[in-house]
Amino acid sequence: MRKIAVINQKGGSGKTTTVVNAGAFIAKQNRKVLLIDLDPQSHTTIHLGFEPPQIQKSIYDVLIKKISIKDAIVETYEKNLFLIPASIELASAEIELVNEIGRESVLRDALKKCKTDFDYIFIDCPPSLGLLTVNALTTAREIFIPIQAEFFALEGLTKLIQTINIVKERLNPDIEITGIIITMFDSRKNICRDVAEKVQAHFKGNVFKTMIRENVRLAEAPGFGKSIKEFAPGSHGWEDYKKLATEILKQEKKK
Ligand SMILES: Nc1ncnc2c1ncn2[C@@H]1O[C@H](COP(=O)(O)OP(=O)(O)O)[C@@H](O)[C@H]1O
Ligand SMILES: [Mg+2]
Repeated sequence: MRKIAVINQKGGSGKTTTVVNAGAFIAKQNRKVLLIDLDPQSHTTIHLGFEPPQIQKSIYDVLIKKISIKDAIVETYEKNLFLIPASIELASAEIELVNEIGRESVLRDALKKCKTDFDYIFIDCPPSLGLLTVNALTTAREIFIPIQAEFFALEGLTKLIQTINIVKERLNPDIEITGIIITMFDSRKNICRDVAEKVQAHFKGNVFKTMIRENVRLAEAPGFGKSIKEFAPGSHGWEDYKKLATEILKQEKKK
């Protein structure tokens, strides 16, 4: 089982878009995939066609130990693609967990307690480096970082890497960055090429070859509650996430 946290404390870097669309293509390749929506904004949940006010059981209930992980998993309209939804209550989880012993590993412990048979777990993180993100980092074995190809993209990466290193030292020695994803790339813009080059120079072999191009269909898909695979076959977004999924699957051989 691969457990992957998709993180970047910068909002709008393409975390949710990547989790949903790469997840859908991987599920299509006969892998059983679980997406955990760990962002109170619930974008992954909404992207897959769920309406948060109607969510009965969410990741929040798991974190406050009201229910088991298994009870929070729902099927999506895609075969092999499952979700643990988020709800707005999740916004208070960080505060509620503050006095909890082992608060950094509530999610990991919840997962350990019940046997699940997923090939992939993707955790969609909120745009912060708070307790929810730390929980994702203690649970996962791998980290994917989507980076938007724009001027401010590299700002904050140092802080992100520091946080990862602290978690690695203190809580989860096995965690590794295994994929940087350049998103919203527009080859006509110098700034995009510039950022992509800088990211490649810095992270070397860890950067996926597939760059996700800017594509309006990717931005439209959430409003229809569908992944790009279903929403716009043949679009650039569809092509790019399909290719990215293939690259992610190829990493299995190295494990
Ligand atoms: N490659 C892309 N091209 C165009 N729009 C995109 C692309 N990737 C993401 N978006 C849009 O940009 C916004 C931010 O992306 P999102 O995945 O939600 O980022 P995050 O989860 O990191 O906050 C969303 O409205 C999304 O639909
Ligand atoms: Mg998001």
